[in-house]
Amino acid sequence: MIIDDFYLKSQIRSVPDWPKPGVLFRDVTTIFENPKAWRGVMDSFIHRYMELDFSHIGAMDARGFLIGSNLSYVLNKPLVLFRKKGKLPAKTLSVEYDLEYGTASLEVHADSLHKGDRVLLVDDLIATGGTLLAAVQLIEKLGAKTIEAAAIMDLPDLGGSRRLQNAGVPTFSLCAFE
Ligand code: PRP
Ligand code: ADE
Repeated sequence: MIIDDFYLKSQIRSVPDWPKPGVLFRDVTTIFENPKAWRGVMDSFIHRYMELDFSHIGAMDARGFLIGSNLSYVLNKPLVLFRKKGKLPAKTLSVEYDLEYGTASLEVHADSLHKGDRVLLVDDLIATGGTLLAAVQLIEKLGAKTIEAAAIMDLPDLGGSRRLQNAGVPTFSLCAFE
């Protein structure tokens, strides 16, 4: 069943001033702990992506892994992990990026994607879009293409979905916190 966005938003915990003063942290652990909401989230993604023409799922460290893993299993697609710096053991490609509350580096194994691959990116949340745009850059470096970036929630005031769309990447989210 497609999840109702009003219900979904009501089940996401908001934590003020974490991890830094001024940040209102949208905490999806409350979704993972709620089978009705978690199943509704996954059913909604499965419904949207079962007919889309893509070859790989790209999942973002760390909460995006949970969505990507379920989707990879149900839709029978290879799962590529985009990880924070220093976690992947073989040859990697790396890019630095800015976050709402700092900077980080994102890496992917150099042999995970190839020219012509069509990647669906998944994460829990789009804020500044820095994380997903870093993955888009890595995908381009490997000669592949990002078909869409999907998230449970969007924070449109932080501009990430607009930045992604301006970079030619369609975005999809199940709810938004204005
Ligand atoms: C959060 C979230 C997204 C990212 C979104 O992850 O899970 O990956 O921030 O922000 P952005 O759109 O501004 O890039 P975080 O970097 O906190 O890492 P974690 O999942 O390892 O906790
Ligand atoms: N990542 C970046 N900004 C965030 C926020 N406000 N809540 C949860 N995760 C985030």
